[in-house]
Amino acid sequence: MISLRYPSHIIFGKGALSELADEVSNFGKEVLLVTGRTAMRRAGVLDKVCKLLSHEKIGVHLFDEVEHDPSLHTVRRGVEVVRRKKISVVIGLGGGSVIDAAKAIAIVAPKEEDVKRYYYGEVPIEGPGIPFIAVPTTAGTGAEITNNAVLTDSEKKIKKSLRSPFMVAKVAIVDPELTLFCSPFLTAYSGMDAFTQAVECFISRASNPVTDTLTLRAIEILYNNLPFAVQNGEDIEIREKVALGSLLQAMAFSNAGLGAAHGLSHPLGAHYNIPHGLACGVLLPYVLEANMCVCREKMDIIAEKLGAEKADDLPHLFTEFLRTINLPLDFKKWQIKKEDIPVLVRESKGGSMSKNPKDLVDEELSRILKKVI
Ligand SMILES: [Fe+2]
Repeated sequence: MISLRYPSHIIFGKGALSELADEVSNFGKEVLLVTGRTAMRRAGVLDKVCKLLSHEKIGVHLFDEVEHDPSLHTVRRGVEVVRRKKISVVIGLGGGSVIDAAKAIAIVAPKEEDVKRYYYGEVPIEGPGIPFIAVPTTAGTGAEITNNAVLTDSEKKIKKSLRSPFMVAKVAIVDPELTLFCSPFLTAYSGMDAFTQAVECFISRASNPVTDTLTLRAIEILYNNLPFAVQNGEDIEIREKVALGSLLQAMAFSNAGLGAAHGLSHPLGAHYNIPHGLACGVLLPYVLEANMCVCREKMDIIAEKLGAEKADDLPHLFTEFLRTINLPLDFKKWQIKKEDIPVLVRESKGGSMSKNPKDLVDEELSRILKKVI
């Protein structure tokens, strides 16, 4: 049996942003616009969105406090604004962190309990939240499609997902023009996140023929276009291709899960602040090596798509890919302590790890980390 969930409306392509006001109007007239303090804001995107909404007489309340790796506290503050201002629609305008924070604010706002209780599973998330619209300004995380929000408990240094089918966006507006303002570094690690998600989902133990079709095409598109997007960020045609690759893989992994690179990247983010997509990209070649014995056939298919001879060539190919987009090949810069490895391994065992094609034991996970620190 194949079961797939998506936002009920996905609008993709250059200029898709122009549909935003119409989509909002289907749900209400008071909006909480959740965003961060990013380059996209400086580039005037935020002003443009506010004008689009005001023109249709939609009330806009700005919540621009979302940080990289949003905390439970940020969600709590957003929820307070929603309740105080009687907000009817939440929009997340930004990268994965912003969209995840907005998603969490929208689901928690109409409910009784504090976000922390849902986060730690003390109470279930029952019933829908406030209608939520996702407008990504990076191409990579897939947060506009997924049913989870990665949040950080800053006190306990825990980074994990709040998850519910009710958290899927009502509308995802994916306009590649909004990614024109991403720096080469942000483009590289967001894109590497998408690429890793595509590869991990393709070999995931929960993959199915529908997700395989999506991820294989995404792997090909991202591999062939991401380096150009990093080199020439103003090229809208290339940006559109990368955004499409990102959308395809998001529609797959949101339904079929990821793997060990994602499992390990979460504690690395929580303890060492390593950008998520970068962490995933560095880990991917080693995770593939560890999985090779159980999914050689599928890796052969990827190799063939990318012009390599066989599965064994992939780890090297992906290391070279990292080099091409100017990302580091290891975590030396972050000075990870060897004695932290057991904690990192222990905290890697979330939902992503459960879909890894091979059951990797602690020694295998430690070995992977030792190779990259
Ligand atoms: Fe990811």
